[in-house]
Parts: sequence; C-alpha cells; structure tokens
Amino acid sequence: MNVAIMGFGVVGSGVAELITKNSDSIMKNSNVSLKVTRILDIRDFPGNPFEGLMTKSFEDILNDDTIDIVVETMGGVKPAFDFVSSCLKKGKHVVSSNKELVATKGYELLQLARENNVNFLFEASVGGGIPIIRPISRCLAGNQISEIAGILNGTSNFILTKMIVDGMSFEQALKLAQDKGYAEKDPTADVEGFDALRKICILASLAFGNHVYPDGIFTEGISKITLDDVAYAESCDSVIKLIAKTKKLQNGKILVMVSPCFIKNDSMLSGVNGVFNACLVRGDATGDVLMYGKGAGKLATASAVVGDVIDCAVNDDKRKFFGWNEPKENMLADYLESETALYIRAEKADKEKINSAFGNIDFLTREGAAEDEIAFITPVMKEGELRNLLDSIGLNVISCIRVADY
Ligand code: HSE
Repeated sequence: MNVAIMGFGVVGSGVAELITKNSDSIMKNSNVSLKVTRILDIRDFPGNPFEGLMTKSFEDILNDDTIDIVVETMGGVKPAFDFVSSCLKKGKHVVSSNKELVATKGYELLQLARENNVNFLFEASVGGGIPIIRPISRCLAGNQISEIAGILNGTSNFILTKMIVDGMSFEQALKLAQDKGYAEKDPTADVEGFDALRKICILASLAFGNHVYPDGIFTEGISKITLDDVAYAESCDSVIKLIAKTKKLQNGKILVMVSPCFIKNDSMLSGVNGVFNACLVRGDATGDVLMYGKGAGKLATASAVVGDVIDCAVNDDKRKFFGWNEPKENMLADYLESETALYIRAEKADKEKINSAFGNIDFLTREGAAEDEIAFITPVMKEGELRNLLDSIGLNVISCIRVADY
C-alpha cells in the first residue's frame, strides 16, 4: 500500500526511515506491505536517500490515486488543516502527529473522515511513542474513565528533574534543555504549559466524548517554580511535576487544566524523570493505569505514526469507529469548582490567622528560609473557597502550587 508523507522534519523523516527499515517485520506481523512513494516539503534534501520522492506540490499527492494513506507531520494548523481536509475528501486515510491540528480541528476532521468513510488517526499527537490514544479508545473502552493525569511535556519535565535532582535553577535547566535540543526555539509552549494543554484537550475529548478546545482552559507553566519550592516539596516527601489533567466532576462537568503540582514520592508519577512522559488513566474497572515512555523524538514518535498507518492499511475498506462528537455548551467546569489542596509560600504571614482560617496547619520548613517566610499545605476544599480564605487573611503569597492526590 502506498504512503505519502507531508512534512519531512524530525518525525516525517523518522516515518520514512521506519517504514523502509521495518517493512519485512511489518509484513510479517500485520500482513500489509507499505511503501513510501511521495514526500512533500518546501525544502531541498540533496543526498538524502529519499530525495527522489520529494515534491514541493501538494497536488502531486492529492491527485495521485495510487496513494491510499497520507501522513501529516508538518505541524501547525495552516496549511495542514486544508491539506488534511482535502485528502480526507479525496478518500485517503490520514495519519497525523500534529497535536495543534487535532486539538483545534479534531472534531471537523473526524467528521470529514466519517463522511468519506476513511480513517483519521493521531496516536502520535499525544505522548510521542507511548500508546495512549488507542488504549483509551479501545483497550479501556469497557471502563468509565473518571480522570486522566499526565506528564505530557518532556521539556518541562526535564527542566523540573534537573532542578530537583541537580539543584539547577529554572534558567540553567532551560538553557541545558535548549542545548540538548529538547526545547523548541521559542520554549514558551513547553514551559508555559500550552503544549501539554493541547495534548490533554485531545485526551479529554476522547475520554469524555465531546471536543474540548484549548481556548480559555486554565493553564499554568513552570517558569515561576523556584528551588525554594522544590525544597519545600522535598520536605513533605513530594516532587513538583507539570500535570495536565482532566476529570469528570460529580456535577457531570469536565475539568481540564494544566498546572504544576506537588506529587507524593510514592505516586506512580513521581519517578517519571527527564524527557520521559507518562499518562495515568483512572478507570472504574481497572483503577489506575500508567502508560510511560518517550514522549518525543524521531523514531519513538514515528513508531506511533507507523502503527496508525498499519491500522489504516488493515482497515482500508472501512472507517474505524473512533473519535468524538461536537463540543457541548457548558460542559466544562471552572477550575475553581474542583477540589484540591494548595501548597502556599508566603512572607510576613500571621500563623494564628492561618490556623484560624484553615484549622490546625502543619507548617513546612526548609534550610535557609528567611525568618518571616511561611509555607504550608491547606486542607482539601474547592479551589474557589480556598482562594477566598487566603484573600480573607490577607496573605502575601509568593508561591501557590496544587497538591495532587495520585
Ligand atoms: N516539545 C514537546 C515536548 C515535543 O517537549 O514534549 C513533543 O510533543
């Protein structure tokens, strides 16, 4: 079966390499023969083994009836959305690794796939090489999923790990992540949580059945985390991780948010270090399931893409039942409605006032703290109520981090 690739960057070139390298084992395991026959990119690749397949014209792929499956590894929404839409309308299956495209246009593209009886699959859009989309949509389909919590951005996890393990400052660790090529040139999407947000929106849409758009979702990154916060976390047997989570609240609304969290050392998520990702899914039958592995990288991400390509080839004549419906009005919860505990670091605080507001608090300690610095963890309450209480005692809060319960 002939495959075209749109976008010959890190992931796209990995897909070409993997399909070519493993064609025999793919044939043996799945009984499909895959061949990359066209690659679209505006750049030239002189001397590249796939140079002969390159084109700069999208029409060469769209109008080639011998191409059954198109891989989109271009990134961004423009022109990827137009290209993918056109391919689906032409009756070609599309496999994408593009989280921005799926998070913002997933519902429209899934509809187009339905209308044209083809598949639009995107395992690689979340968690790189880690199987997440298919396990949620297939293997765990017998469960009612109540919650998903993921460490879904490798760059920010690398930075936090360096701060925790090596005592590096945020700035030093970010510089190292950039030197190692993990962080994007503009690392804002990584460190401010927007990359993780797109990924959790995809998982929330899949788990709860209606499209969740990233716009307006509460998102906090790691750029304000300091080594002082890391030390306080350590003092209560915890580490700080950037957690992207979605949860069905008791009122039926869906909570989606991204923020740093204190994670207890005995949690399955606490040992996820460096650029690794992990995703915890809470099902009513399975309890907590953790999927862990490389969340980015050329061949790891290509592995997820090629898995989807094989799935399309095996299901060439039919569309798989897969995806989600249109967004529903008022389906999302305000993050202030969710229950949580908060770690608070403040200065010039009155311990009596804190105790009378929250009940008897165990205050945290760290070496080298200023005399007027105070840190504590609140009881679990609705976040809105916690914030009202904090306001009512007039605390000068320096740092506020949620405390997770998984
Ligand atoms: N910049 C992303 C990360 C790449 O660091 O996880 C994978 O989506």
